[in-house]
Amino acid sequence: MASPSPLNVFRGHDSLAQYLDPDQNPPLPLVEIPDALNPLRADGVRIFAKMLTALPAHNVKSLPALEMLRSKPKAQHQTIVEASSGSTVLSLAIIARALWGHNDVHAYVTNKKHPDSLRLMKFFGLKTVLYGGLAQQEPSDEKGIMSRLRRMAASEEGVCYPGQYDSDENWKAHERWTGAQIWRQLPEVNVFCATVGTGGCITGTGAHLKAMKPSVRTIGVCSKHGDPVPGPRHLSGFETSPFPWRENIDVFQDVSSADAFRASMQLSRHGLICGPSSGQALCGLIAHLQAAKAAGQLAEYADPTTKEINAVFVCADLPYQYMDLYFQKISKEEFPPTFNENLLYCDLDPYDERNSLSPEDASKLAGGIQPCSAPSSCSCNKKHHHQRQDALPSPPSSSGGSPYYPHPSSTSLPTPPEFPSIGLLDPSEDDYQESNTTIIIDIRPRDAYATAHMHKAWNVPLTPEPEDFFGDALAVEARWREIREVIGGPLWPGAEELQERRVLVMCESGDSSRMMVAMLRARGVEAFAVEGRYGGN
Ligand SMILES: Cc1ncc(COP(=O)(O)O)c(C=O)c1O
Repeated sequence: MASPSPLNVFRGHDSLAQYLDPDQNPPLPLVEIPDALNPLRADGVRIFAKMLTALPAHNVKSLPALEMLRSKPKAQHQTIVEASSGSTVLSLAIIARALWGHNDVHAYVTNKKHPDSLRLMKFFGLKTVLYGGLAQQEPSDEKGIMSRLRRMAASEEGVCYPGQYDSDENWKAHERWTGAQIWRQLPEVNVFCATVGTGGCITGTGAHLKAMKPSVRTIGVCSKHGDPVPGPRHLSGFETSPFPWRENIDVFQDVSSADAFRASMQLSRHGLICGPSSGQALCGLIAHLQAAKAAGQLAEYADPTTKEINAVFVCADLPYQYMDLYFQKISKEEFPPTFNENLLYCDLDPYDERNSLSPEDASKLAGGIQPCSAPSSCSCNKKHHHQRQDALPSPPSSSGGSPYYPHPSSTSLPTPPEFPSIGLLDPSEDDYQESNTTIIIDIRPRDAYATAHMHKAWNVPLTPEPEDFFGDALAVEARWREIREVIGGPLWPGAEELQERRVLVMCESGDSSRMMVAMLRARGVEAFAVEGRYGGN
């Protein structure tokens, strides 16, 4: 066995092969779970999580994948095919690339798989081949996907099928590493528990531990029929496995998916970050020991000297790819609230700092902008909007609400105050706004506009702007609703008037104008917010 790199540095042409080799790494962490998650702690039960998630590919199948590929060196020149929609194909793809620069792994995947998992496979460069029908198929079914792949590899020279369900390299990898590591780390181990998919992990680890200490009991955790958890199978789907599981699995325990997801969330919250099958293993372990306790048999599992029970379960992968499922399986009340939730439905158009201009830059862009010399009696605010036929187009996606969350009717605010009516000034002879490519829109209230404004700025007044309204979620929503109404309202220039025009939006603080610019840009208008207090007036 090569010695682990003490400083965890892997270099040279085979740096990745070293990094992926368990013999060149320290043993994976074995962490006792906190008492809060161990209802049997007072009964002398200590529970340890074996973090296979800390493998470089972050899942339980990295070890079998490595052994299966090492045992088939020809595979580097072949197309590798495997029936798996998760850990095994991901591991095969990553390891084949690291060992050989191999880039041709095909995952045969049920079309019932969650789109996130399909994306994950694409992310890792896997070619995916979908199949219909039963999602979790029997490895021994002659018409099933595994048999088809077996036949394909037998008849086509260029195809390698590692075959996780049949390959002895699968369970032997866990005998060699998972079992051996646990034995070195915790020789006082009494119970080992893992979920059962191919059965490789529990068979191999059980084989090693039982060889070293025959009293070690093993618990294989399965899904309930019709209530799957990603990775493990239900028992009747496993029984035909060719692995030597009968001598290495003492007892089976099934666990519901809701319990599995909830337990992995609790483990993750405590820092043992893991996916649903890991929670399922913990639940199965606890359920089995609780049943033993109820039957007065717990002492049979304990070390005769210390009277303690040291139990190990496997954390098999990470939770992130299953977020949608967590929110389906676990009730809403078990998640903390989101404060300011109304902001999920409004003000979603993207802001871009490049669309905020200093007054100087705005002036340059507009070919010079000057304060109006007679603001209370000028004709800057031309009657530009009355004949308008054409409204601005709606933004392509999100302005009416979140693309991610349905709009809950309960979060709507009262509609904003009536749009203030203003007496419009007479049209001017001056056609500055018509001929200039830049339109200045002043969104301050009417009286502020009358006191001072930029020459030829149009006044499309909003209600007075609350101070620092971005700090108040309800004020943000109110402001957003008001701007939305204004943009679609009677004082707003029509799409035709704005065509091939640049719009400068001016307000008191720059906040409302920034919001309006984001909304205008989402509607295809080339708009800029002018930053800073209003023109020194
Ligand atoms: C997330 C996860 N947990 C558990 C298992 C079961 O492991 P095994 O196939 O060794 O029984 C798998 C198998 O793919 C898995 O992907």
